[in-house]
Amino acid sequence: MTALLPSESAPADDPHDLAHHGDAEVGDGLVDLAVNVRADTPPAWLTERLAASLSGLAAYPDATAARAAVAGAHGRDPAEVWPVAGAAEAFVLLARALRPARPVVVHPQFTEPEAALRAAGHVVERVVLGGDLTLHPGDVPEAADLVVVGNPTNPTSVLHPAATLAALARPGRVLVVDEAFADTVPGEPESLAGRTDLPGLVVLRSLTKTWGLAGLRVGYVLAPANLVTRLAAAAPPWSVSTPALVAMQACTTTAARAEADRAAVALRGDREHLLVALRRLDGVEVRGSDPASSFLLLRVPGRTDVRARLRDRGWAVRRGDTFPGLDGEHLRVAVRDRTTMDAFVDVLREVL
Ligand SMILES: Cc1ncc(COP(=O)(O)O)c(C=O)c1O
Repeated sequence: MTALLPSESAPADDPHDLAHHGDAEVGDGLVDLAVNVRADTPPAWLTERLAASLSGLAAYPDATAARAAVAGAHGRDPAEVWPVAGAAEAFVLLARALRPARPVVVHPQFTEPEAALRAAGHVVERVVLGGDLTLHPGDVPEAADLVVVGNPTNPTSVLHPAATLAALARPGRVLVVDEAFADTVPGEPESLAGRTDLPGLVVLRSLTKTWGLAGLRVGYVLAPANLVTRLAAAAPPWSVSTPALVAMQACTTTAARAEADRAAVALRGDREHLLVALRRLDGVEVRGSDPASSFLLLRVPGRTDVRARLRDRGWAVRRGDTFPGLDGEHLRVAVRDRTTMDAFVDVLREVL
């Protein structure tokens, strides 16, 4: 992702580099545990659909069918769907379209929402979760008229209960729930994607992680139709390409969603395997009581050298210190297959 200048992305005295992302940490010869895109993706059936779409590139993109497909998948009206060039574009559109008096971002979380708000000139307030990273609705100031929260949250892997998030919605407030990783949780039990009863609810979804489409840029917004109209007015024309719209249709069919769910079940097994191994190690903690997504947040008390030492041994993990609320003792590790995870734990043991 294009780096923002530090002065645009965060206050001058902020030690967190909000424009840093895991892709900056991978490199030749390194095992990539830094980027949360599912391994061995996109599947062949999907790349074939994308390849077939290339014959239509002469025409400007038409989002009608993609909006209908997404709406059908989530039980929504197509007028409540706005396709975006990855969930990251949605943060920019929201920051451009809305004029909140008191925007609040719940951290630790993905840093682009705050970076986009700051770049658009908003003064952002942070709510920083500590301890076991549980969110209580009372943590968010009553006067907040824009609230951004991730579920499950990157980098903590915490899955907030739907009821907790629903309790944050109220008239006069836009509640943005970033569900970029919702499809990593079997059955998506805490997703608000289908909820039309909550005032001001905006749900963001990404198709780049589970389907391996980070380079294609594809996601969508689910929101009340009047908010979709405002986002559409802030959007550049045709920012979502024809292949991305085809991917949106292809990845929201019943069969594709079932495939994603099977991957989420397999991921849960791999994550449990890694958790068991990590809990046997001295000197490392797993943050959050019940990690739910495709990555784990680790803390290595008193050790800020672990990431570099892992790197020396050929393993790239995501630094934690760029996330507000975390520091150099934190690392985010993508969950991969069990053989890879066993090898990683062996190296981590040596480093510790
Ligand atoms: C929590 C979260 N939300 C949104 C995004 C952006 O995803 P996309 O690739 O769809 O823009 C990311 C990317 O890392 C993320 O981690």
